[in-house]
Amino acid sequence: MKPKLGCCYYPEHWPQSRWREDAQRMRDLGLSWVRIGEFAWSRIEPMPGQFDFEWLDKAIDILASAGLQIIMCTPTATPPRWMLDKHPDMLGVGADGNTRGFGSRRHYCFSYIPYREESVAITEVLAKRYAAHLSIQAWQIDNEYSCHDTTRSYSEAALHAFRLWLEDKYHEINELNRAWGNVFWSMEYNDFDQICLPNVSVTEANPSHFLDFYRFSSDQVVAYNRAQAQVLRKYTTAPLIHNYMGKSVDFDHFKVANDLDVASWDSYPLGFLVDRLSVDDGWKKRFECQGDPDLQAFHHDLYRSVGKGRWWVMEQQPGPVNWAPNNPAPMPGMVRLWTLEAIAHQAEALCYFRWRQAPFAQEQMHAGLLRPDSQAAVAFDEVKATIAEIKELGDCKHKKASVALIFDYESCWAWETQPQGQGFEHFSLVFEFYRGLRRLGLSIDILPATADINKYELVICAALFTWPDELLRRIESHPGLVLIGPRSGSKTPDFQIPETLPPSLPFLDCKVSHVETFSTGCERQLEGGGYIRNWQEILETSETVIEKTVDGASVLIRKKNCLYLAAWLDAQAMVRILESLCDEIKLETNRMPEGVRQRQSGSYRFVFNYNAQSIDYQGQTFAPAAVKIEPII
Ligand code: GAL
Repeated sequence: MKPKLGCCYYPEHWPQSRWREDAQRMRDLGLSWVRIGEFAWSRIEPMPGQFDFEWLDKAIDILASAGLQIIMCTPTATPPRWMLDKHPDMLGVGADGNTRGFGSRRHYCFSYIPYREESVAITEVLAKRYAAHLSIQAWQIDNEYSCHDTTRSYSEAALHAFRLWLEDKYHEINELNRAWGNVFWSMEYNDFDQICLPNVSVTEANPSHFLDFYRFSSDQVVAYNRAQAQVLRKYTTAPLIHNYMGKSVDFDHFKVANDLDVASWDSYPLGFLVDRLSVDDGWKKRFECQGDPDLQAFHHDLYRSVGKGRWWVMEQQPGPVNWAPNNPAPMPGMVRLWTLEAIAHQAEALCYFRWRQAPFAQEQMHAGLLRPDSQAAVAFDEVKATIAEIKELGDCKHKKASVALIFDYESCWAWETQPQGQGFEHFSLVFEFYRGLRRLGLSIDILPATADINKYELVICAALFTWPDELLRRIESHPGLVLIGPRSGSKTPDFQIPETLPPSLPFLDCKVSHVETFSTGCERQLEGGGYIRNWQEILETSETVIEKTVDGASVLIRKKNCLYLAAWLDAQAMVRILESLCDEIKLETNRMPEGVRQRQSGSYRFVFNYNAQSIDYQGQTFAPAAVKIEPII
């Protein structure tokens, strides 16, 4: 399938007299998709039960008659002001106990059922009216769940729903007391109705309490999304999509995706480099106008997996954003590079956010493809040239990678609850393995812990907090190599230390006797080169030790084709160890110059230069932001 490009458009922001010209210019630019409606509730239903469809009918007809395919959105991320008068208890509450107010967006609480019903009702109204429209070829549900820290709400509605969720899970209060270890500090409950949300305790709440609350909060997102998906399914067979956010891990995307057809995410490489990644200042400066060389690719691979092969970029940054601490413009060539990189990872579509910069309200400093005066903004010509280039490109087929990396949302919540050392995050550790593999020129598939791993030559699983039985069986019988990273299997599903001690691998004679965490500057040197940072486990084992610290502590052990790594590695050690494993299984690697990355699809090998300078690569000069596309014969 040929990838198609599009943009996010807000007809309600502009005089109707401009719509036809806008639609024509989108077509002239070569765009195919246009996304509309996700924030337009106050114009669709200005007063409860009073609908105004005239403008939306007209906008849809104009866009459709220009030949654009429409992604229609449900507007539920922005309940209008009257909704609050109707449902004063609908607001989310932050962990600080403050109720979130009206005046921006995402102010609803996922557990407040009357709002869920309102969301279903507006979705049904829209579906009834527009599902049969031939140009509406996809539906987006809501907008960026979890944005602005809104997954977890500490409201009354959440409290009551949480108690019911716990009762449903444990049935008996003493079963909950056992699972949480409530004998500690006399925290035992006599009844589910006594349980509070974990934001009111004097010091940290019980980690099992936190983890259950995080699981519950994720389930509320799943249920909320499902309610809209079910109503849409009654009226349309068009694909249902949600636009996830970068490094947003507080609900289980794999579970939300079970009710959808396509996964999409919103890619803002420059903003994310500064506000979402724990990298040093030198790295941030080096890639300030290009974005991190691995972060976009990581999300592309993650969402390809979340969407079971079908994924899009729903929003692509085309210029400076307004929300990061500083907001540089992308280096010339980067908008093209980001677009082609998404295609290299098999995106079906990519939409630029937004068509025209708004002169008013919160995002007036956020660039679009057009300036507020409708003249082309800086990326416009680059986008035009990129679209022409993509038209010349053949199909970009998927090729299963040889390496799989497991990513698990519950493990993110587990280590958020109990990091033990500053910065210990499942996301960051998995991402560092990903970066290490990419430094070796490898293409990677990211999988949930429930996936079949059988066909992968190398499987890596790091900081997976507990073992699903099925995964343990798969690892034990896996024909390829399996590298298990630190902290894996270190808890029971209830969040207790397993009786056998971590890593709880029945086929490996190895126990973690204790763990040390340490700060930057206290790294521990490895015999083979490079350092351990952040996290080190002290092992009792009779298995073969293949890597030690200079002080003689076992760091990497092995039995047959299963390896256990007991530490967080620095970049040098990571690449060295991954390379030696690949060499063993004869998986071709290629040490990439820093900032240069490649991705192999079934049809092309793409090479990207994320550097701001030209570099010599394979005997040729590789310009800043350049992309090489080599057909695979
Ligand atoms: C996204 C959001 C958009 C817009 C954009 C600005 O997170 O979905 O509505 O706010 O950020 O960069």
